[in-house]
Amino acid sequence: MSIVSDLEKDRVTELDELLTAIKPKLISYISQADPNSEHYNSRSLGTYHEPTFLKQQFIELSGNNLDKPCSETQLAETIDKVLEYSVNTWNPGFLDKLYASNNPIGVISDLLLSILNTNSHVYTVSPVLSVLENYIGHKYASLFFTNDQETCGGLTFSGGSWSNITSMQIARSLKYPDTKLTGNANYKFAIYTSKHCHYSVVKGAILLGLGSQNVFKVDVTPQGLLNVLDLENTIEKSISDGYTPLYINSTAGTTVFGSYDPFIQISKIARKYNCHFHIDGSWGGNVIFSPVYRNRLQGSELADSITVNPHKMLGIPNTCSFLLLPHVKNFQTAMSLQAPYLFHGRDNPDEANYDLADGTMGCGRRADSFKFYLAWLYYGQVGFQNRVEHAYKIQEYFVQTIKAHSDFEIVGPEFPQCLQVCFYYHPPLVKNNGGNNTEVTRYISRELHKLGKYLVDFSPNPENDVKGEFFRVVFNSPILTDKIVDDLIESIIKVGSELK
Ligand SMILES: *Cc1c(COP(=O)(O)O)cnc(C)c1O
Ligand SMILES: *[C@@H]1O[C@H](CO)[C@@H](O)[C@H](O)[C@H]1NC(C)=O
Ligand SMILES: *[C@@H]1O[C@H](CO)[C@@H](O)[C@H](O)[C@H]1NC(C)=O
Ligand SMILES: *[C@@H]1O[C@H](CO)[C@@H](O)[C@H](O)[C@H]1NC(C)=O
Repeated sequence: MSIVSDLEKDRVTELDELLTAIKPKLISYISQADPNSEHYNSRSLGTYHEPTFLKQQFIELSGNNLDKPCSETQLAETIDKVLEYSVNTWNPGFLDKLYASNNPIGVISDLLLSILNTNSHVYTVSPVLSVLENYIGHKYASLFFTNDQETCGGLTFSGGSWSNITSMQIARSLKYPDTKLTGNANYKFAIYTSKHCHYSVVKGAILLGLGSQNVFKVDVTPQGLLNVLDLENTIEKSISDGYTPLYINSTAGTTVFGSYDPFIQISKIARKYNCHFHIDGSWGGNVIFSPVYRNRLQGSELADSITVNPHKMLGIPNTCSFLLLPHVKNFQTAMSLQAPYLFHGRDNPDEANYDLADGTMGCGRRADSFKFYLAWLYYGQVGFQNRVEHAYKIQEYFVQTIKAHSDFEIVGPEFPQCLQVCFYYHPPLVKNNGGNNTEVTRYISRELHKLGKYLVDFSPNPENDVKGEFFRVVFNSPILTDKIVDDLIESIIKVGSELK
């Protein structure tokens, strides 16, 4: 008896046919969204659809019942609808939460990863990607840790949350190595973070058995920065209550206002109380690439760990999040169990560790670092510098323009430190009627989306909610121009004039 392959077509022909069929669809999709293309349509961002409409499109009307293989036509129609009803983030009007559109080399890197479809946990199955992750992690970390250029390094994690939680675990294992064996039993650990922090820190504390009530929320200044005086008072108070200070979280580029904490002062307090000093630079860390703007990170070289996401400010395809350490070997010191069934050790103990999952919680790892490596190679460091500086030029142009306009009001720091701008727009007719900011902001934001031109987010004020929700617009794309910014402002005014 012989058992033959059950595939109808050979894989080579099948992939060739699929790629050939999809390529024109992809190019047409992107060209609609590209201002330099003759097919550009400023309304190609797409509009809002209700979930019931989408369920109807994909489930009820399509005849795609998943019981048997679909026809070629059904596949083509489904792909067309996925593109049509998704938000086209290649459109320059996509100014929503923090990330920007993909780019050609990003698509290629994702395609290569898919072709390789490897797991970057051990060297033997992902030799190239492991060496490149080690290389690019070191290169990236050495921009930040200028005092530890030789020893620093970084690994990718599946997202900011995992980078965060890992940094908390590393803090505990390094400062109190006995906890790896005995758990928290001998300690009552305290975590310090700002009042603005999201629940993720608290979740991390729960996951690590530290307990949510042992996360202390420190006051913030009116600009949303960690209040250093209150930080020290909170630590002193917790020590007198029998706590062991473990971890201080600070932020480079807060999610709402984009503020940068005073890292030099925080690091002094961390040293004084033997606390791990973490910087969450998921959003704002990549200003490191610009000599003009990197002074916002002053003191970050003193951190014990830094999270940075190339998938936000640098336009690397989602997701790509690094945790960087001044001493890369500490990933292993903190995590390794030397599982011999998986990690077979090194022939040459002097060589770097390329069994990367020995230093992480997860075993299955996608090589997200490769997308960053390929983009860095393709654009060069100067390409990332130009990207960051272009985005700041656009942000500054927008700020100047709305400052000159009496119906716009900046919220938060007068000169925003990162690439998002928080503001109110007060339509003249509404202003005279004592209108409601939340209603105005939500109305304009929804109408801009309906036009298919702009997707802008809004937010309540984390400090003081009485004035209502404001716009939070993110300028983070190399294709933005002053013309598009002018059109955005005109569109806000025009839509606002419909309100009374
Ligand atoms: C986006 C963001 C995160 C979350 O990172 P993900 O990788 O998207 O999970 C964390 N902290 C800050 C300040 C952020 O802006
Ligand atoms: C941590 O990750 C979470 C989840 O993505 C994020 O919302 C939060 O702001 C981040 N800070 C951390 C990194 O906890
Ligand atoms: C750090 O603080 C920021 C803002 O204060 C918060 O968004 C983030 O979740 C925190 N991260 C960690 C790891 O505590
Ligand atoms: C403003 O409108 C929002 C949303 O409709 C509502 O929740 C809020 O209470 C209103 N605020 C005031 C001050 O009327």
